[in-house]
Amino acid sequence: MSELLFRDVVRNRHSVRSFLPDPVPADVLREVLQDAQLAPSNCNTQPWQVHIVSGEKRDALSKAILADDEAGRYKLDFSFDLADFDGVYRQRARDQGAAYYQAIGIAREAKEERQTATRLNLSFFGAPHVALLFMPEVGDNVRVAGDLGMYAQTFLLALTAHGLGGIPQTMLGMYADTIREVLDIDPSSKMPFGISFGYPDMNHAANTYRIGKAAIEESVTFHG
Ligand SMILES: Cc1cc2nc3c(=O)[nH]c(=O)nc-3n(C[C@H](O)[C@H](O)[C@H](O)COP(=O)(O)O)c2cc1C
Repeated sequence: MSELLFRDVVRNRHSVRSFLPDPVPADVLREVLQDAQLAPSNCNTQPWQVHIVSGEKRDALSKAILADDEAGRYKLDFSFDLADFDGVYRQRARDQGAAYYQAIGIAREAKEERQTATRLNLSFFGAPHVALLFMPEVGDNVRVAGDLGMYAQTFLLALTAHGLGGIPQTMLGMYADTIREVLDIDPSSKMPFGISFGYPDMNHAANTYRIGKAAIEESVTFHG
């Protein structure tokens, strides 16, 4: 891959929150998975266990987690609470939420509309496929979770390179028990997040905005 093409792929990747219903051809999906498989991992352990869900199974899974949501049933394998984030991290999360809701035309005070928009996570934002990333529990899990992150970004960049798009979703992790049940996955496998993916609907407002990123100086300290 040329340097320019790499730059384009990295810059074109963004979180896609509206998809066309068209399924991804099996050969294209295999190429994406082959690319993602090249991700680095601690001691080459490659601890990712990836479940790709499509078609009727995808519909059944969405129905099951929407029913969980309706009943107020959820339990994460790994904790996630925005209130745990301080300072600039908290602010960036707020800015991201504000930018998204503004893009899709939902006002700050429109609580119900916001909840409806958030619930779109559970129908995979209309994507025909979802990749659910599971992992074995090892020690305090930090290393393995880091490896899953390596896999996930390689997968997302591979999607972009193939004209596809995806959205990583911690929110799917809230329904890990139901997902294991529907897909018959062993309880020892834990799920930090999933990635809905397919062809982006580029005419949808959700896909028209790009969230800003901090300047290099905010993240990087040069020594020597
Ligand atoms: C691990 C992970 C989990 C995420 N979970 C969600 C989610 O549950 N729902 C959602 O709409 N976006 C989710 N996002 C997307 C982020 O909001 C998005 O990556 C961030 O705002 C930066 O935007 P960009 O991906 O377009 O660069 C998640 C991203 C990551 C990396």
